[in-house]
Amino acid sequence: MNETASITFAEQSYDIDVIKGSEGELGLDIGQLRSKSGLITLDPGYVNTGSCQSAITFIDGEAGILRYRGIPIEQFAQSPNFIEVAWLLIFGSLPTRHEYDDFVVDLRKHANLDEGMKHHFEGFPRNAPPMAILSAMINALSCFYPELMKIEDPESFRNAAARLISKVRTIAAYAFRHSMGLPFIYPDPTLRYVPNFMHMMFSQPYQQYECSETVNTALSLLLILHADHEQNCSTSTVRMVGSSQANLFASCSAGVSALWGPLHGGANVAVIRMLEQIHEGNMTPEDYVKLAKDKNSDVRLMGFGHRVYKNFDPRAKILSEQAQSILREMKLHDPLLDIARKLEEIALQDPYFVERKLYPNVDFYSGIILRALGIPTDMFTVMFAIGRLPGWIAHWWEQHQTPGSRISRPRQIYTGNTKMDYMPIEQR
Ligand code: SDX
Repeated sequence: MNETASITFAEQSYDIDVIKGSEGELGLDIGQLRSKSGLITLDPGYVNTGSCQSAITFIDGEAGILRYRGIPIEQFAQSPNFIEVAWLLIFGSLPTRHEYDDFVVDLRKHANLDEGMKHHFEGFPRNAPPMAILSAMINALSCFYPELMKIEDPESFRNAAARLISKVRTIAAYAFRHSMGLPFIYPDPTLRYVPNFMHMMFSQPYQQYECSETVNTALSLLLILHADHEQNCSTSTVRMVGSSQANLFASCSAGVSALWGPLHGGANVAVIRMLEQIHEGNMTPEDYVKLAKDKNSDVRLMGFGHRVYKNFDPRAKILSEQAQSILREMKLHDPLLDIARKLEEIALQDPYFVERKLYPNVDFYSGIILRALGIPTDMFTVMFAIGRLPGWIAHWWEQHQTPGSRISRPRQIYTGNTKMDYMPIEQR
């Protein structure tokens, strides 16, 4: 039996059911509020508002916990396998050996793009933002695979998911190759997921790129840590678009657009730009932190703060350690890592950040790792999108499968002109 809460307004009381999640989270079910009381709720930015019930990912922001289908993300760090985690998020449990092998075969089979898609890349300017290309070309998949537009059954959904997860690498790599004026390198079906992506990014017609285990492990873990994160801005966008019964490709294309913003996935690029600015001697870490605290500056300490985490982002903890070990293994030294550590040290002792519970988030260290792996800065958010794609697909399908799922259509509180008459232009 659900507990209830009560709202009193204009001398009337209204009982509201309280829903309890499997981890004890409580929520007011206001589904009948307007019909019962005429009242709606108002919560810009949805700081206090849940949009759905979901069984995919759990975050405890106060304790710094992140679990995929109940499994703590730290447990994927030992031997990271992105495809296994993608399957877990989308289908709800870790794949059996048979399911895994079948899925890998599908991913290898569907890495190519329709030759007709290549002309679209040639139409983009060399300096086109890769996130614009990624969003456009994911949407364009619906033109080339009409049979996957209408998802009526789990089989067609599985095919669409496999194609999308496989082809997103090819689209990303071709966007990079186009920006460099390099020939497209076809996927190699003998290679695993990450090595095939790195092959398409960095091989040359005369020389194959050999992906080391260090790079494969580091990039697999990075993709896993980005794979899902409850109802973040881009995932909520995918759900919003999918709620109109728009197809999977169109919904994920919208997710790419939301992720692009510097307050969201675009932060990993903004962090590196911030570190480079300090490194180039334009300012000291202390100066930058001072600027980030100044309300009159539009500067923020990028890679810091989070809507949900009011403790360390567990992903940032893992990435901070991994950045150190990757640079060591690759015998690299990146001065930006030293600057990042200095910024973290200053901010974590500064009352402004402590009072507001602002800690490093997933974007604070991810760029250092991507740089060490040779990924160009303007491709960082694209890497975030490749990682987040299984999460978007999982949420799209969970919403699609939820009985009684309806189109999302929030209400508002109107604050504009009350009724007035049209005035002919001669009288204005
Ligand atoms: C991601 O939602 C997700 O799960 C996202 C994500 C995912 O996996 O999908 O985790 C990925 O997007 C991580 C966040 C990446 N963005 C950044 O690193 C950009 C810098 N951070 C912020 O802009 C901010 O912290 C947000 C956007 C992350 C969170 O914004 P909120 O929850 O709306 O918080 P807010 O803007 O209301 O800030 C609260 C206070 C304000 O000060 P006051 O008005 O109370 O005085 O904290 C301040 C803010 O000015 N503040 C910062 C700050 N972040 C918040 N001040 C300086 N630097 C910062 N980074």
